[in-house]
Amino acid sequence: MSTEPKDLTRRKLLQRAGAAAASLAVPAFAAAMDPNPKKRSSSPNEKVVIGLIGCGGMGASNMRTLMNSSDVEVAALCDVDTARITNDFKDVTAKYGRQPDVYHDYRSMLDRKDIDAVIVGTPDHWHALNFVHACEAGKDVYQEKPISHNILEAVAMVNAQKKFSRVVQVGTWQRSTKEFTDAIDYVRSGKLGKVVLCRAWITDGTRLGHQPVSTPPESLDYNFWVGPAAMRAYQSNIVHWNWRWMMNTGGGLTTDWGVHMIDIALLGMSKGLDLPMPTEVSAVGGQWAIQDDDRTAPDTQEAVMRFHDPDFALHWSVGRDHPGKPGHGTEFIGADGRTVRVWRGGWLVLDADGKEMEKVEAPAVGDHWTNWLDCIKTRQKPRADLASVAQTTLVCHLCNAAAYAGGTVRWDKAAMDIIGKTGKDTLSYHREYRKPWTLTNHK
Ligand SMILES: NC(=O)c1ccc[n+]([C@@H]2O[C@H](COP(=O)([O-])OP(=O)(O)OC[C@H]3O[C@@H](n4cnc5c(N)ncnc54)[C@H](O)[C@@H]3O)[C@@H](O)[C@H]2O)c1
Repeated sequence: MSTEPKDLTRRKLLQRAGAAAASLAVPAFAAAMDPNPKKRSSSPNEKVVIGLIGCGGMGASNMRTLMNSSDVEVAALCDVDTARITNDFKDVTAKYGRQPDVYHDYRSMLDRKDIDAVIVGTPDHWHALNFVHACEAGKDVYQEKPISHNILEAVAMVNAQKKFSRVVQVGTWQRSTKEFTDAIDYVRSGKLGKVVLCRAWITDGTRLGHQPVSTPPESLDYNFWVGPAAMRAYQSNIVHWNWRWMMNTGGGLTTDWGVHMIDIALLGMSKGLDLPMPTEVSAVGGQWAIQDDDRTAPDTQEAVMRFHDPDFALHWSVGRDHPGKPGHGTEFIGADGRTVRVWRGGWLVLDADGKEMEKVEAPAVGDHWTNWLDCIKTRQKPRADLASVAQTTLVCHLCNAAAYAGGTVRWDKAAMDIIGKTGKDTLSYHREYRKPWTLTNHK
């Protein structure tokens, strides 16, 4: 692989940036192609040199958090929408006193030998390709959740991580915050007794409204943005941020929030990173509350999952309201009716009558991003190692597959596959990639 960015000559960059670059307050992206850049450290023992793929909300947020570490140097930014790079470009330049290199095609960034690791902050339909290519290029990855858009992609990602021995932290940061680690520790230590039921939920009332088919803004390469997904005529309300409510590019709140809240249930019911997986998943759902709208993801969904060894059920709900409870959360219900409830910001232990009981806290574990940086150096598995969060992501996809298949989907944990046909004929199981994109499964 070449060490030079293939596609970003100064002229090409300016062509792509077009009007957006002309309006930048910083001295234009062209300056990012400094022919004599300051020396950048290349050894992971000194600094972890990072590139960001997808300069949107969460990718940029991860990058800014990592920039607080003196162990990190951000060298490059990549987005298919030049307008989205502007703020990150300014902040990285201010922080390091040098301009980051800017890429349109993430594969050119991955060709760079001096980049140790990448943050994947693209929409879900891009995760598998970005990730497998990053593994092939020998990069460690901070991978946003859910790890994939469908089941077969998740399996390919697990295989790629294993084959190329990459250190991967998934952005399920609840694995590192005190209320969740306290609740998980309480359940794991047996203080709640035998747990027979878990519940996880999120409240949804998001309306996208209607937008006409129109021409994409000049700054956005819409064809690249759609990538391996099915091509749809451009509408302004199906791209940035809103893609999560379109089943073509996201999975609705079952993958968006389910991967956070179901993750806590599975962790509480496990002893470590290997999570229990359901043998059967049944679900119903649809666009029953919000019908006159461009969104395609369900606003209402109920899923019930059966686990063995230990025997328990997990109930997942996307609903309009959850009276008397936080708008999202996870609960563990013991055989005697005691409950642990946890949400972003707090946790409770309740007796069978709903009266609060005394809690026992666990030691803090340290932040999610530092954990990734530490593991890059030690080559240990981070707290949200990809293979572990793949299991949670698969459970979320099974909930969607069951809802769309209209039946019970059965899962074989060892084979990492659906048993039989039910669920396989859904977008949550697989998709035909739009040409020229293809995904390699390194099994
Ligand atoms: N961990 C969390 O708490 C959390 C919170 C929000 C979002 N997320 C996850 O972060 C990811 C991004 O979500 P978001 O809300 O920031 O989305 P976003 O739409 O705001 O940003 C995504 C960016 O990726 C760019 N992009 C798309 N395809 C690209 C490609 N092939 N190469 C380079 N750039 C590309 C888009 O142009 C956009 O700027 C999602 O997977 C989402 O689930 C995680």
